[in-house]
Amino acid sequence: MTAASMKNTDWKEKGDTVFAGTYSRFPAAMVRGEGSRLWDADGREYLDFLAGIAVCSLGHCHPAVTEAVCEQARKLMHVSNLFYTEPQTELAELLTENSFADQVFMANSGAEVNEAAIKLARIHSGKGRYEIISLSGSFHGRTLATVAATGQPKFHQGFEPMPAGFVHAGFGDPDELKKLINPTTCAILCEPLQGESGVRPLEPAYLQKIRNLCDKHNLLLIFDEVQTGMGRTGTLFAYEQLGVTPDIMTLAKALGNGLPIGAMLTRSDIAASFTVGTHASTFGGNPVAAAAGVAVMKTMLAADFFPAIQEKSKYFIQQLEEVAAQFPQLCTGVRGSGMLLALVLTEKGIEHGAEIVQQLFDRGCLINFAGMRVLRFIPPLTVSRGEIDQLINELSDVLGQMS
Ligand SMILES: Cc1ncc(COP(=O)(O)O)c(C=O)c1O
Repeated sequence: MTAASMKNTDWKEKGDTVFAGTYSRFPAAMVRGEGSRLWDADGREYLDFLAGIAVCSLGHCHPAVTEAVCEQARKLMHVSNLFYTEPQTELAELLTENSFADQVFMANSGAEVNEAAIKLARIHSGKGRYEIISLSGSFHGRTLATVAATGQPKFHQGFEPMPAGFVHAGFGDPDELKKLINPTTCAILCEPLQGESGVRPLEPAYLQKIRNLCDKHNLLLIFDEVQTGMGRTGTLFAYEQLGVTPDIMTLAKALGNGLPIGAMLTRSDIAASFTVGTHASTFGGNPVAAAAGVAVMKTMLAADFFPAIQEKSKYFIQQLEEVAAQFPQLCTGVRGSGMLLALVLTEKGIEHGAEIVQQLFDRGCLINFAGMRVLRFIPPLTVSRGEIDQLINELSDVLGQMS
């Protein structure tokens, strides 16, 4: 059987044989994407409000990104960080010119840049200061250190002992956080809006208290903007809307619109602690991935890019609020900002969460059930009003049948 003649069931059968079973996959093999649409091996079309888990923020196969990747792949694919390359330099310049930071370390994923941030915080703070405080409900990655930083015990189970040096404070509780600070503490790590555990925003006043504690106790404030960064919440970085600036920020997901790239950004006085040989990545900031990042940044920096997204976000929130009001037995309201939005479910809604996602899939709409408590909507930022309407219609129908 040739690949071209294989259908969804054939790919599923093959994949379930050869892949380690870490994922619960939809029974579809995706073969093509364009904008907010995907097509599977059976020729079915999907409206994609998952965007590769908040990655394809400019939509699938955005022409500027595809062109930049193809052009760079024809010129030079990889040389390692023993050399300078144009795309990596240009991307670092674009990131620093448009953020609080002035230096960048590049890697290939969210977990890797969080690892870099953890290592930098430790080496910068000096001997005896290694402990990182993060928040319950947080998600920072699946490597051992980042899973230890992740404040959700279910991700630790079976992998104990966790690496030492990570403690968790209750969500939204600055007093508990304060009590955890001790002479070994070097940093506080948090997402400005927790994505994976159910789209939970941290209030600006709470973040300001965290910033004040960092300043008072000489701790580094690390924002994990792997999910919230690169436009997801309606501005290039979420911290811009919150009045609180971190010392270190991590980005990945949408930075390459689908090519694997992550970046850790910081000030030069902190970056100075990363001297030659202290940290490295063979592929980090690879020319092809960095070329994608440059194309993403240039597209997002166009003057009309974010106003248009904020407009659509308002419209989407309003539509979701109407759905929530229509089905009070299933939904309690709407959370999130920009295009990182969630319909919060009641207990009864939570019972039906997986089924709602499944029924939407059957109707050709992709969303997910984040943290097993909310329906999360993370479409490409470029999603149209018509596509939002289509999703809302299907969602209302599905919820209507269930209530
Ligand atoms: C906030 C946050 N940090 C880190 C990660 C881990 O990123 P990756 O899967 O690229 O390692 C994720 C992934 O969902 C995330 O949402």
